[in-house]
Amino acid sequence: MADWIPDGIDLSRPSAARVYDYFLGGGHNFEVDRVFAERALAAHPFGRELAVINRTFVRRAVQFMLERGIRQFLDLGSGIPTVGNVHEIAGEGTRVVYVDCDDVAVAHTRLMLRDSDRATIVHADAARPDDVLGAPETRRMLDFGQPVGVLAATVFHYVSERQDPFGAAARYREAIMRGSYLAVSHLSSDGLPVRVGQMAELMKESQNNVHPRTRVEIARLFGDFEMVAPGLTGVAHWESERPTDAGRHEDVGLLLQAGIGRKP
Ligand SMILES: C[S@@+](CC[C@H](N)C(=O)[O-])C[C@H]1O[C@@H](n2cnc3c(N)ncnc32)[C@H](O)[C@@H]1O
Repeated sequence: MADWIPDGIDLSRPSAARVYDYFLGGGHNFEVDRVFAERALAAHPFGRELAVINRTFVRRAVQFMLERGIRQFLDLGSGIPTVGNVHEIAGEGTRVVYVDCDDVAVAHTRLMLRDSDRATIVHADAARPDDVLGAPETRRMLDFGQPVGVLAATVFHYVSERQDPFGAAARYREAIMRGSYLAVSHLSSDGLPVRVGQMAELMKESQNNVHPRTRVEIARLFGDFEMVAPGLTGVAHWESERPTDAGRHEDVGLLLQAGIGRKP
């Protein structure tokens, strides 16, 4: 068996990490994920585009933070590495802790990082911040006496109310010092509520239920952080590198609200 395939993984249901990998053209997914992904694309043809736009947001968020002197990153729900992983974007002189709960994402990230001394992965539930922040890898890699860039791109919508995403986000905000940043993208029920409802319904067949939230709820994840322009907005608005496409992406982009906040 290939070394990125961990023993005992659940192949009976697709996983969000593996479906997302398929959307992005990665090769770390299985038949069950591909069949599901194709069904999702038949119902929502823009799914792949949305994944790509979201990756653009992640890249821009990292670049934005780098330009403001951030040298350490905590990437919650980091996914299966494809292209443009955070430690590659961030480059030399930076440190990155990836966090994911998906076995394939963790195994493949470990493999990718086996020779790296400036990036690591924690196998944990991002909704349990004490597990993440207290993990030996996190403590070894990140200095919380210096600003940290926390990335939570399309992860908190996998966290139910019962698991308390707002409490978890507050704990991460509290752990990082003044001048640190938090970037979030999150499935939103405001823009295209019927579409997003159908997507959430479909995801019930996977290992990861989704919990779309209103823009007001998503804004709560930032607490009292100062929002960076253009604020919490449709993810396509972060895509100014491809301005010619912006109109086409506008609608689709509303499915994800995305923003960056700075700890005052
Ligand atoms: C759609 S992918 C996003 C990957 C990357 N953050 C990005 O935006 O490109 C979502 C990832 O979040 C992970 N995930 C979902 N719920 C999680 C949780 N409670 N804790 C940690 N990871 C989680 C999934 O396994 C998956 O890899």
